[in-house]
Amino acid sequence: MKVLDWKKEIKEEELKEVSRKIRDGGLVIFPTETVYGIGADATNGDSVNKIFLAKGRAQDNPLIVHLANVSLIDEYAYIDNDIERKLIDCFMPGPFTLILRKKDNISNNVSCGLETVGIRVPDNMIARKILGYDNIAVAAPSANKSGKPSGTDIASIYDEFSDSVDYLIDGGDTDIGIESTVVRVIDGVPVILRPGFVTKEDILDKVGVVRVDDNIFRAASGTVLSPGMKYTHYAPSSRCELIYGIDKIKMVEYFKKNTDKNSVIIGSSLLKDIECMKYLYYGDSLEEISHNIFRLLREADKYKPSIILIEGVSKEGLGLAIMNRLIRASGYNYKEIDKDSK
Ligand code: TXA
Ligand code: MG
Repeated sequence: MKVLDWKKEIKEEELKEVSRKIRDGGLVIFPTETVYGIGADATNGDSVNKIFLAKGRAQDNPLIVHLANVSLIDEYAYIDNDIERKLIDCFMPGPFTLILRKKDNISNNVSCGLETVGIRVPDNMIARKILGYDNIAVAAPSANKSGKPSGTDIASIYDEFSDSVDYLIDGGDTDIGIESTVVRVIDGVPVILRPGFVTKEDILDKVGVVRVDDNIFRAASGTVLSPGMKYTHYAPSSRCELIYGIDKIKMVEYFKKNTDKNSVIIGSSLLKDIECMKYLYYGDSLEEISHNIFRLLREADKYKPSIILIEGVSKEGLGLAIMNRLIRASGYNYKEIDKDSK
């Protein structure tokens, strides 16, 4: 794997090389504003297959297609109604993926046989340069082995993919840190299949109606609107427990009682003085938490703790997306203090 450092500038010669590699069927890891993606030409089934092999991804979990700009969408998918059009106008480019009816030039390996495809126009300079060089459609899931926390920093990604990918573009740590909001319009209503930085409140504000799929907080099975809902995600190898309490004093008490020298704590400054094996500060705002969380979940594992205790947040705004990731990361081992403790 060739690592290209584009943190300060994007080198034109290298950009050409990377674009050609994708055209020739190779795999390239590149930054977006959410997380890093591991990309291949979305019109080439054989290249797309390499992504599934590199990640160890389930064959029925479709990929998102990335485009350089909004005007390219109807080359690859049908925009069927005004609500879809409005969502595109309001949230793209940005951390937002819209599930649309797919056109035939997108490989069936991208959609795993579904009639739909997730379309995203990232708002990140490096991603847009790569996509825009030749206006290629790039299928790209998050850059992590399946089931593991998504790749937001170069060191973790390098460890997982150095033998299976052609290029790794280093654009520094990603800004947002959790993946895009995935939405499908059903009967005129935007339905959130995966919460993200574009929130339920943002969509309600622009479109006047929104629904959140019931499966975002449980382990779904059988037929679901988004296959990704069925799988374990974001999980460290160590056992995790997620704890949330509206009453912060009670919550801190719970952490104190349940922590020892073999446990790692991930949380806000409220927990900084608790004695434990390692305290990992994730920030005091939702934006900071979103930015840091996947990196810290990976870091926590390195201490090989008996347990990782993670502080939860309220499910409002960006908190919904953070809790969706944390509940899955903790294998649904989730406690609400005010409800569950005496
Ligand atoms: O921010 C992001 O979305 C990142 C960056 C790289 O763009 N990508 C990403 O891709 O998170 P991935 O593959 O890790 O997650 C895509 C999610 C999966 O849960 C998948 O099941 C769902 O989107 N998805 C993809 N295509 C779909 C479709 N046609 N219908 C329903 N769900 C779909
Ligand atoms: Mg993923």
